[in-house]
Amino acid sequence: MCGIVGYIGHRKAYPIVLNGLKRLEYRGYDSAGIAIYDGKELKFSKTKGKVVDLEKKLEAEISTEGTIAIGHTRWATHGVPNDINSHPHFSNSGDLVIIHNGIIENYEPLKQELKNRGYSFQSDTDTEVLVNLIEDVKKKEKVKLGKAVQIALNQTIGAYAIAVFDRKKPNEIVVARLGSPLAIGVGENEYFIASDASPFLEYTKNAIYLEDGEMAVVRTHKDMKVRKIHDDSLVDPYVQELQMNLEQIEKGGYDHFMLKEIYEQPDAIRDTFRGRMLADQGIIKMAGIDDHIDKFINAKRILIVACGTSWHAGLVAEYVFEELARVPVEVEYASEFRYRNPVIDKEDVLIAISQSGETADTMAAIKLAKESGAFVFGVCNVVGSSISRETHAGAYTHAGPEIGVASTKAFTTQITVLTLIALQLAKKKGKISTSDFYTYLRELDSIPEKVAEALTSNEHIEKIAAIYKDAKNCLYLGRGFNFPVALEGALKLKEISYIHAEGYPAAEMKHGPIALIDEQMPVVVIATKKGHYEKVVSNIQEIKSRSGKIIGIVTKGDVDVKNLADHVIEVPETIELMTPLLTTIPLQLLSYHIAVMLDKNVDQPRNLAKSVTVE
Ligand code: AGP
Ligand code: GLU
Repeated sequence: MCGIVGYIGHRKAYPIVLNGLKRLEYRGYDSAGIAIYDGKELKFSKTKGKVVDLEKKLEAEISTEGTIAIGHTRWATHGVPNDINSHPHFSNSGDLVIIHNGIIENYEPLKQELKNRGYSFQSDTDTEVLVNLIEDVKKKEKVKLGKAVQIALNQTIGAYAIAVFDRKKPNEIVVARLGSPLAIGVGENEYFIASDASPFLEYTKNAIYLEDGEMAVVRTHKDMKVRKIHDDSLVDPYVQELQMNLEQIEKGGYDHFMLKEIYEQPDAIRDTFRGRMLADQGIIKMAGIDDHIDKFINAKRILIVACGTSWHAGLVAEYVFEELARVPVEVEYASEFRYRNPVIDKEDVLIAISQSGETADTMAAIKLAKESGAFVFGVCNVVGSSISRETHAGAYTHAGPEIGVASTKAFTTQITVLTLIALQLAKKKGKISTSDFYTYLRELDSIPEKVAEALTSNEHIEKIAAIYKDAKNCLYLGRGFNFPVALEGALKLKEISYIHAEGYPAAEMKHGPIALIDEQMPVVVIATKKGHYEKVVSNIQEIKSRSGKIIGIVTKGDVDVKNLADHVIEVPETIELMTPLLTTIPLQLLSYHIAVMLDKNVDQPRNLAKSVTVE
């Protein structure tokens, strides 16, 4: 995620692009930059920090005159947030300048090839590779910028929304998208470019949303042409009149950031394994793991420390790591681990999971483990965050900014990263066969579509939420891989609807919680076909015999639970260890709808902060 903005027309471009970046900061905000063409020269300024930091720096450095500009507010994926890695990026000649939202998966081989041809690189980003590939094509093929961009993009693998400008042909901006959004605002003899319409809504309501695999040469002196990148065929662009207001656009048309982020999960999971997993080739490549694989192979145990939802992801990882890699795993609340004088061995590997990368308890646990000589690995969502810099190595979730306080896409992308690590470790340790490895990778590759299918139950879930929104207590039950999902579902309900909820292993019911069951008590039971299904069905029967209200999360096509439960919500079938990626979806939606019906502040629930940077 990040924000890109561009303008070409008759107005002063700088204020349009600067304010546009401010509107898009929710999409990414670790660094920012703007390039402006004033009719004679191409100027730029960029910096780590917020757009307001850029504003101060730029206005002190360069003149802001000019009617063409492109700007970027970054959410880093390759290269920590710093001035050099900020966008825009220039080609070696200095003629071409690019801004990019997305991930170029094959940037490493492309970079090596360009280095062999004499190109040099200032930054660690994948984006700088792309702009030099475009320059290389332009020089070799002796073609215009538009054609060079097209040829170059057909050599890349990954996701992008880009804007490219050539100071040698300063009357056009070339844009293209695949996997990341890009809107073109159509004005009177002027065009606006942006990740969404919020930067140009006040100037024009006429917008073209490029489709995946499309590109355009945006210019005021000629008609803008939209083409398909792969075959150069012309596209008849649909200019729509926007009906949304600013706030709705920022939330992607959803009522809350939380709902938007729940629906972003198919893309977030795909972005998280993008470039790391080549399912059809049976390959996982994760530098953070591969460069330290011996630490993991020789580890006598793996410790996992985290808080809240991240702790639940760690609990899922315990089941996945032990199932696949046969290594003992201990999951600890970071706040407990840091104070209980734990026994830590220098051969231990400690995995710290944190969306924000700033959680104080998790940071303290990391420091304690490092003092004892353990190898510490981070799984964070914010590139360059404190925890990501404190750990010896790590792997980022590429979930994009998570604005809603209640963590959703961070949870599923954390599980995705941890599953990739467990698979890679299991393969390297010879604990799973090559054919099983292929099977797991192919199934993981199918998960985004299955999450999208699970999301189609939204309206059905909303109806169930209406029935139980006034419950005072709620139980969530799950077994095996889905016990942590039961805990996570309970936390979601608690933190945004303020209804008391508890998650339990389903078999624990008879050790106490069953005393709570009555007709007022909704019980959410995760009863997917995989894993102790028969035992969960008997747990459901126990609840039913005590008049409990049962909401079953079941595998698509289930009949047995359907005959017993008051409501069932189906999720697609998958292999057992990947069921958490699907079963959590209905629980996120259930808590979201109940909280909305109770008129709670879903994105910023009372008493909660998005990142707990204090003890
Ligand atoms: C979960 O919805 C909450 N936002 C909270 O429990 C969160 O998971 C916890 O504070 C840990 O945050 P972190 O992942 O940023 O470290
Ligand atoms: N992959 C690019 C980078 O890390 C773009 C990231 C973004 O979308 O902001 O700079």
